[in-house]
Amino acid sequence: MANHEDKPWTVPALADAKRAGRKLAMLTAYDAVFARVLDRNGADLILVGDSLGMVVKGHGSTLPVTVDDIAYHTAAVATGLQRTLLVADLPFQADATPERALDAATRLLQAGAQMVKLEGAGPHKLDVIRFLVEREIPVSAHLGLTPQSVLRFGGFKVQGREERAAAKLREDALAVAEAGASLLVLECVPSSLAQAVTAASPIPTIGIGAGPHCDGQVLVLHDFLGLDSGHRRPKFVKDFLADGGSVAGAVRAYCDAVRDGTFPGPEHAYQ
Ligand code: KIV
Repeated sequence: MANHEDKPWTVPALADAKRAGRKLAMLTAYDAVFARVLDRNGADLILVGDSLGMVVKGHGSTLPVTVDDIAYHTAAVATGLQRTLLVADLPFQADATPERALDAATRLLQAGAQMVKLEGAGPHKLDVIRFLVEREIPVSAHLGLTPQSVLRFGGFKVQGREERAAAKLREDALAVAEAGASLLVLECVPSSLAQAVTAASPIPTIGIGAGPHCDGQVLVLHDFLGLDSGHRRPKFVKDFLADGGSVAGAVRAYCDAVRDGTFPGPEHAYQ
């Protein structure tokens, strides 16, 4: 279970990787050619993120992204893959009710995704996770800085710094796993909190701005290639193209650094 370089990834293999201490390297992609390069150079998971609203469509947030957008890009990405597990985001309000989420998730799985990701852990989100999982749709949760909450947060800000918020996040992490999620993305939270959540979580955690102790890492493609997408560059980003020499080299350098624990370094983490 520790090495999946040649075998296609499956949902149960993610849990095996956590048990084996084998870190998961995930990147976002939005088209077939990048998906192919990521797939052939060691990425374990690809996310068709609603970040596409910001890095592909040029908006200031992920809120304008629709199910049609995600389905279109998921279908394109899926054509490039042989072994990588494909996760697709449920965009803003696509998970507002279990029925809406089921319609959207069915479209995304039929477009080629193997798992859908949704943000938050409020009671209605836990209902949606249960509803989808009972209907054979694997789910990834996403906690911490959930970009679809940008209006309530008042910006893209680190979450879980105060003890009350940290305790709530620890509870939420257990609740999403209990509801049936198979994966948990932790975005922009202090390293020590991500470390505690990862130790207690029965499902793999994937960090972005969450320090080195998660079971895996994810970066947005444009950030990891050092492209200026017109948004403030967060401190957790590293330009792997600068050292990798080519996109394929950058993917290999990123996957190696995630697996040997050299990325993220202390300079990429929040306290
Ligand atoms: O939309 C996205 O790309 C994401 C990642 C930042 C985890 O959700």
